[in-house]
Amino acid sequence: MEHAKISNDQVIAVVGLGPLGRGIAACCLSRGFTVVGIDREEKHREELRSFLPEAAAHCLEAGVMEAADATQWDTRLKLSGDLAAIKNAGLVIEAIPETLPAKKILLQQMEQFIPAGVLIGSNTSAFPITELQDGCVHPERVFGMHWSSHGHVTRFLELTPGENTSAEAMKLAVKFAEQLGKEPAVLKKDIPGFLCNRIAYAMYREAVHLLESGVADAEAIEASFRNSVGLWAPMCGPLRVMDVMGGGAFYAESIKGVLPTMANSAELQPTLQSFIDQDAKGPKNNIGFFDYDEDEAAKWAERFTASILTTRKYQDQYIPTDESAGDQSAT
Ligand SMILES: NC(=O)c1ccc[n+]([C@@H]2O[C@H](COP(=O)([O-])OP(=O)(O)OC[C@H]3O[C@@H](n4cnc5c(N)ncnc54)[C@H](O)[C@@H]3O)[C@@H](O)[C@H]2O)c1
Repeated sequence: MEHAKISNDQVIAVVGLGPLGRGIAACCLSRGFTVVGIDREEKHREELRSFLPEAAAHCLEAGVMEAADATQWDTRLKLSGDLAAIKNAGLVIEAIPETLPAKKILLQQMEQFIPAGVLIGSNTSAFPITELQDGCVHPERVFGMHWSSHGHVTRFLELTPGENTSAEAMKLAVKFAEQLGKEPAVLKKDIPGFLCNRIAYAMYREAVHLLESGVADAEAIEASFRNSVGLWAPMCGPLRVMDVMGGGAFYAESIKGVLPTMANSAELQPTLQSFIDQDAKGPKNNIGFFDYDEDEAAKWAERFTASILTTRKYQDQYIPTDESAGDQSAT
């Protein structure tokens, strides 16, 4: 299969302009691409337009955008409520809500408007890519493209092949990720939750277990985590940290004793089930592990953005992406 190269004169289509889609669109704009943003709701299309000045300021503050690319975002962005607007795109990114049937239908509808060589990246958080490919006429062009919020400044991008994704598609996806200033984490296999969510979910399960079993209150769990993992996480992953903070033998001995006492149930814990029952949205509806009034909600939103911008600057200063790209694991 022949794939067009993603050059800067090509259009990137982003379908679904919620918080994730907005960051994705802004990221592409910050790297000089023309973007067509598609959302079935006008309100969300307009939210993207009004988000542009803030996103551009973030990109400049984090140092992820050349001054030349800071211009003409408005003219390089087209908005539409009609999926047919993807027809001239060089690559399409899907970012609609996390519902499997809706994503599958959308991917199949997209194929009616774009030629066979145009790739489709899905920003699913956890669905197997192979399931999303099922029913597509050209499944070889579909891959997982998992972003994080704020997509315009983070380095994070997980790229996952489904069983039917072509090697050429994955090569082009990696190249495109690098053009966007990302440090792509490329999976060798399709697996639910990909990498970061699987690692994070194991951690969340243990945190909830500690809380539910009365070992510590939420404040203590937070302080312990922030002031330990928070110190090294922007620089090291969980494997590197074992090497450099004592060596694998030390960690293995210690883990051996604790493993039998850790949460390992495949059932959702009662606290998490109650969050589903109450539709807990944290600061948005004040249902969560902590209480939020309006000021508290704003404070956490602000802290989150500040932390992301600072971390990106720190990573670019101390861990250049070309160094991490050449980083070979010993095993
Ligand atoms: N929340 C996170 O931190 C996070 C991180 C990585 C990936 N994701 C994934 O990104 C995706 C989007 O997340 P979000 O939080 O931005 O979602 P969201 O529900 O806030 O926004 C989705 C947008 O898609 C639009 N939409 C729905 N169906 C559509 C269709 N058929 N055509 C065009 N537009 C349509 C909606 O109007 C809405 O504006 C989800 O799959 C989510 O799991 C989320």
